Amino acid sequence: MRYSRITGVGFKVPDRTITNDDLAGLMDTSDEWIVSRSGIKERHWVEEGEGTSDLSVEAAKQAMEMAGIQPEDIDLVVVGSLTSDYFFPGVGAQLQDKLGLRTVGSFDVKAACSAFVYSLSIGDQFIKTGQYDTILVVGAEVQSTALNVSNEGRDMAVLFGDGAGAAILQPAEDESRVLSTHMHSEGKYLKELWCEGPASLYHPRISHEHIDAGIHLPSMNGREVFKNAIKRFPEVINEALDANNLSLRDVKLIIPHQANLRISQAVAKKLGVSMDMVYSNIHKYGNTTGASIPIAMTEAYREGRFKKGDIIILAAFGAGFTWASAAIRW
Ligand code: UT7
Repeated sequence: MRYSRITGVGFKVPDRTITNDDLAGLMDTSDEWIVSRSGIKERHWVEEGEGTSDLSVEAAKQAMEMAGIQPEDIDLVVVGSLTSDYFFPGVGAQLQDKLGLRTVGSFDVKAACSAFVYSLSIGDQFIKTGQYDTILVVGAEVQSTALNVSNEGRDMAVLFGDGAGAAILQPAEDESRVLSTHMHSEGKYLKELWCEGPASLYHPRISHEHIDAGIHLPSMNGREVFKNAIKRFPEVINEALDANNLSLRDVKLIIPHQANLRISQAVAKKLGVSMDMVYSNIHKYGNTTGASIPIAMTEAYREGRFKKGDIIILAAFGAGFTWASAAIRW
């Protein structure tokens, strides 16, 4: 049986930093409200003309450098993203071009905050079957261009940030490997966290009336998301542990999707572990949707929070609803 391992990681956030005080100048909110409800102190938003693909390219280059590979080595590109530069096609083909890759396969996975773990799972399967040897997996998102930075949009606008993270997957050479991945979804919660338009269901997909009604802006029932997240995160983390006959004592670090510090704290409490074991960098980047896990994994690695041989668990929950986990022996 062939396994995959992560040989490189990287991330990029836009240079423009938006603090809570900056937002308080645009809407009725405060640093105190945002920090106490979410743990977020600042986030990074793109400048006009900077897209998901641009952030992805920078993250991918770092991951490729760490893995010691060249563009011609990449056999497949999987991008977890809701927010491609354009309505279609996805970011994958743009990365093929911008990174100068061979005309390899590339596609996007639209699984919201779970998209990086879903994409990692897909990449893992292609290595296991032996079809490909070197796969670029990206989680990338630009949410800021769909945020309503006025009082009506303040519940969403304060939470989200832009960014991209990347990983290179290659065949395992020793015990360092992706141990397992688990994916779930429950579509009955579709409208609890969604962006309705532009919608192929409508003729035309977006109208002046739609824009006046704001269907092109994401909306969320925060409490319903919170309630489901704190149920599904522990569940899918335990699923990863059970599948590998591991206990939490074997785990060096849990890297959850950075949705909200209070969600991570509630998950730690439910699992009975201290927050030292649950990585958090949401104070710096906000919720970067599909990008948050590879950004957090890269930062945690660079900070020395785990090293070769350590077991880490990636866990995600988001729109769909979707949720997923990956157990990795680094
Ligand atoms: O990747 C998954 C993405 N989503 C999430 O992770 C979100 C999960 N949900 C949450 O984190 C929380 O539900 C929120 C942080 C979104 C909201 O916290 P909450 O404690 O559930 O607050 P709430 O929605 O019940 O709102 C409390 C009050 C409301 O005012 P009233 O009706 O009590 O007068 C809101 O209008 O806070 C108000 N509010 C704000 N006040 C200041 C909502 N947004 C803001 C804001 N600043 N930005």
